[in-house]
Amino acid sequence: MSKTIAFANLKGGTGKTTICINIAGCLTVIHPKSRILVVDFDPQANATSGLGIDEDSIKNSMYDVVLNQSHKSKGVPITQAILETQIENIHLVPSELNLAAASVLMQQVKDKVGILNRILTLIKSYYNYILIDVPSDTGLFMLNSLRAADEAVIPIDSSIFSLEALEKFQTYCQDIRQMTGHTINRFTVVFNRYTKSKASYQSNKLLKNSTFEELEEVVKGMSYALYKIPESLLVYRSQKEGMPISHISPNSKIVKNYMEIASYLSEVN
Ligand SMILES: Nc1ncnc2c1ncn2[C@@H]1O[C@H](COP(=O)(O)OP(=O)(O)OP(=O)(O)O)[C@@H](O)[C@H]1O
Ligand SMILES: [Mg+2]
Repeated sequence: MSKTIAFANLKGGTGKTTICINIAGCLTVIHPKSRILVVDFDPQANATSGLGIDEDSIKNSMYDVVLNQSHKSKGVPITQAILETQIENIHLVPSELNLAAASVLMQQVKDKVGILNRILTLIKSYYNYILIDVPSDTGLFMLNSLRAADEAVIPIDSSIFSLEALEKFQTYCQDIRQMTGHTINRFTVVFNRYTKSKASYQSNKLLKNSTFEELEEVVKGMSYALYKIPESLLVYRSQKEGMPISHISPNSKIVKNYMEIASYLSEVN
């Protein structure tokens, strides 16, 4: 079985990359024999550094892989861009800043929304899980990621813009269906940096942000699964060490929460 999961939101900074890396870590703990590929499809390359890969050491990145789709004699097939990470069974297709230029290359391809899906088809039989870290753009990176995905994880925060983004995301997925006939099977919303503190509840009210209870009501109406991830300083330690939290603090509260999501995502649906 191979499942492709996109970590996406039109809104930036909601925790897509952090959740993607940590779900990869938890999936290897739950299914030690499974093979996981993280595809860093964001020019910011945060998933690349978050998995301990130094950008200067990269020979081929997603840029070269996309280039190979637009100009067959240039770039490399995805198999030549895959790197091992510090964690056995988690592989990575790294990104670098020049991936931003790939949007121009993608415009030149005939089926420009299906590029990533075609790229991933080549290696799907090898990996059990392919996790795509998607940038918060509304263009071809996002469209390609959703076209390639069986499922989507949508991290949100308590800002009022998160709800707006969630509604727009639904419209976006409908557009994909109309454009390509592709349907995303399941959506999982993650309320990231969740805190129960009274002070935060009051400041959310003051800032006219949503409280978790309000968000829960809206998400329930959308019939998506909803999970919470607490605010945690371990996120920063994990970034520093270039490893998922499951591999540096396996008994922490935040790992328990990531585990719940990973186990839901690994259900056959
Ligand atoms: N549970 C958490 N606790 C504390 N900090 C967190 C948590 N999750 C994410 N962060 C921090 O929030 C910031 C945004 O997270 P992240 O980079 O994962 O979001 P993103 O959606 O991928 O952003 P972008 O849209 O820029 O790609 C980062 O500084 C990250 O370290
Ligand atoms: Mg990111």
